[in-house]
Amino acid sequence: MNSAAELTQLGSIAVITMNHPPVNGLGLDLRTAIVAQLDRALADPQIDAIVLAGGERNFSAGADVREFGTSKPSAAPNLPDVIRALEAAGKPVVAAIAGNCLGGGLELAMGCHFRVALRDASLGLPEVKLGLLPGAGGTQRLPRFIGVESALNMIVSGQPVPAQKLAGTALLDEVVESGVVDTAVAFARQIVADKRPAKLARDIRIKDPLAEPFLQFARTNVAAASRPFPAPLQCVEAVANAVGKPFDEGLRLEREIFAALMASPESRALRHIFAAERAATKLPDVSEVPADMPLREIRRVGVIGAGTMGGGITMAFVDAGIPVVLLETKQEALDRGLGTIRRNYETTMKKGKLTQAQLDERIARITPTLDFSALADVDLVIEAVFEEMSVKRDVFTRLDQVAKPGAILASNTSALDLNEIASFTKRPQDVIGLHFFSPANVMKLLEIVRGAKTGPDVLATCMNLAKRIRKTAVVAGVCDGFIGNRMIARYGAAAGMLLMEGASPQQIDGALQRFGLAMGPFRMADLAGLDIGWAARKRREAEQPGSQPRSAADVLCEAGRFGQKTGAGWYRYEAGKRDPIPDPAVDAIVEQFRRDSGVTPRKISDAEIVERCIYALVNEGARILEDGIAARASDIDVVYLSGYGFPRHRGGPMLYADTVGLANVVRALRRIAAAPGAEAWWQPAPLLVKLAEAGRTFN
Ligand code: 3HC
Ligand code: NAI
Repeated sequence: MNSAAELTQLGSIAVITMNHPPVNGLGLDLRTAIVAQLDRALADPQIDAIVLAGGERNFSAGADVREFGTSKPSAAPNLPDVIRALEAAGKPVVAAIAGNCLGGGLELAMGCHFRVALRDASLGLPEVKLGLLPGAGGTQRLPRFIGVESALNMIVSGQPVPAQKLAGTALLDEVVESGVVDTAVAFARQIVADKRPAKLARDIRIKDPLAEPFLQFARTNVAAASRPFPAPLQCVEAVANAVGKPFDEGLRLEREIFAALMASPESRALRHIFAAERAATKLPDVSEVPADMPLREIRRVGVIGAGTMGGGITMAFVDAGIPVVLLETKQEALDRGLGTIRRNYETTMKKGKLTQAQLDERIARITPTLDFSALADVDLVIEAVFEEMSVKRDVFTRLDQVAKPGAILASNTSALDLNEIASFTKRPQDVIGLHFFSPANVMKLLEIVRGAKTGPDVLATCMNLAKRIRKTAVVAGVCDGFIGNRMIARYGAAAGMLLMEGASPQQIDGALQRFGLAMGPFRMADLAGLDIGWAARKRREAEQPGSQPRSAADVLCEAGRFGQKTGAGWYRYEAGKRDPIPDPAVDAIVEQFRRDSGVTPRKISDAEIVERCIYALVNEGARILEDGIAARASDIDVVYLSGYGFPRHRGGPMLYADTVGLANVVRALRRIAAAPGAEAWWQPAPLLVKLAEAGRTFN
């Protein structure tokens, strides 16, 4: 007997239970086991009917995504073969659905003759989120069971629906509160007794006069909303086939589209992101951090500094139901910080996303204080004070005195040396970096910075905490800028060089936005505030004289142009608006700067802009991997996707480099490095060269 699906006999009913952790993914093992158990049940004269069940949490989450990219999904029996076998079975087959019933899992259930579901089971066809469409009959069967409009909404959005919402449709014969397998067994007995014939999807004809106009409407809307992804529109076409073509023809066309989408770069990118996000949750060094390591309990959190970041971090915790003690130095600053938090919640309330009672509850979770000793009983403190080592020293020295033993002491520093910060305490094992991104209550990314002495349980606790506050966490090592900002500094510098050589801020931003970035580097700098980079450059110059040659950005800052907050930066902004308006004053500053530096501007193409800026990111990413700052290339992709608006259809900078081909990236970098004075800056990273020469990829 194959353990991926077990058969038990309850009188004349055979129950086939899928048991393939973690989620009953329909890999070759499970598919083979289902068919083997089905054949056993069909051959047994004592068996009258069959129930197909999964686990409590997962009926099945669909095709086994780990098989994608191998020959296994098409190996016999493939998923359509299994579904055909169920559908053609000579004895009634009843699906007993609990937990996730997604993608191929729902397609499997729809191939059964009847379906019984637990009311909170989650039914959906999320393939579109992986850049695919349901490839085992989902686009043909679901519209026949629940109607074109509902089916199309589920297929195009990929959003699952609780079973109770589908009660009363031909999809579900019964929806129950509990005991789904027992009910399915009783149901199967009744069917046998009543000799009730199966109602197969293939026998249903869609007779909906509104289907055609709805499909036409969907085509227009979906085409506009889903660019650059091809899958959503293909979902509409496949459902249109369910309306207009015979069932088997619809199935054949669906399979064809599925194969084409599977080969598309967009699907590759989305599947990479799915795997990358899950890989990032795994602690980088498993041997050092065992899976069963006891975590520290985090019930109350302290936040120091109620400025831009402290306020957002406080909101992230209270939104997740975790109370916060918020410390400032002066009453005025505390009032200002709390006022901003309240205003942010009021804006959310005006949009109808928060009730007055919820707002009051969240505010009540914040205990404002000016007294350091109020932090004595919190389990975690996050410092978000000014980015100056002397201020951090003062804060961590005092924290070391008041925090209870075992409390985690975290810094939100953007770039300062975490090991030095840890050295201000007598408990460096409890010190960690929690680098949130602005606005901290909105941005998904959290870089968890592991110091040289950070305890493995502290690291594991923070990874777990990230999930509680719904952040995408990535572990980074200590260096200037960690993963994200270290890379963005190179990207920004590449953009700065292009500006010097002849491109305008709007041309550079435009080229990168057309590549897919949410915002080009100059718009992003204006949003973040040019003063932040200016302060960092001054700090680096003080540490390493001569390392920060004067730039046009310095000239802008000297003129008080700090970006959106001052109404002018690389662009100008009208009061209360965020639209960047090209500013001749900036052109004049840049042109003067070029003249002063003896540069004759040249014409630069959009392709060159994208090549230089993105390869600068990739090259630094390779160095970050080499230095062990990131554990995996896919972690870097997660950072850029969740924190920097990198286009999802490209899967992150490292996957993009893989897609272009690392040998091509190295060639381009060498070509750029061959220009006079460019050799050192553009030298390809040794790891990049090594992988390219071996014909390998980052991922
Ligand atoms: N195949 C294989 N493994 C899967 C999987 C799948 N379809 N779905 C999830 N997993 C794995 C995850 O990689 C993770 O593994 P790990 O512990 O080794 O990291 C584990 O299951 C748990 O996953 P999550 O961390 O995501 O757990 P959650 O409880 O948060 O979510 C879930 C569970 C809702 C099932 C979520 O994982 C999910 O949405 N999965 C994807 C479902 C999907 O896209 N199905 C369609 C596949 S394509 C298809 O079916 C094609 C067909 O039409 C032909
Ligand atoms: P901010 O200037 O808006 O706020 C800092 C706050 O800390 C001020 O309200 C100040 O009164 C308070 N403060 C200063 N010293 C204090 C002390 N000893 N005790 C208590 N409170 C004190 O600064 P911002 O932008 O919030 O930055 C804070 C930290 O977060 C810095 O380390 C910064 O590098 C980091 N960071 C900033 C990001 C940003 O986009 N602004 C992004 C990620 C990290």
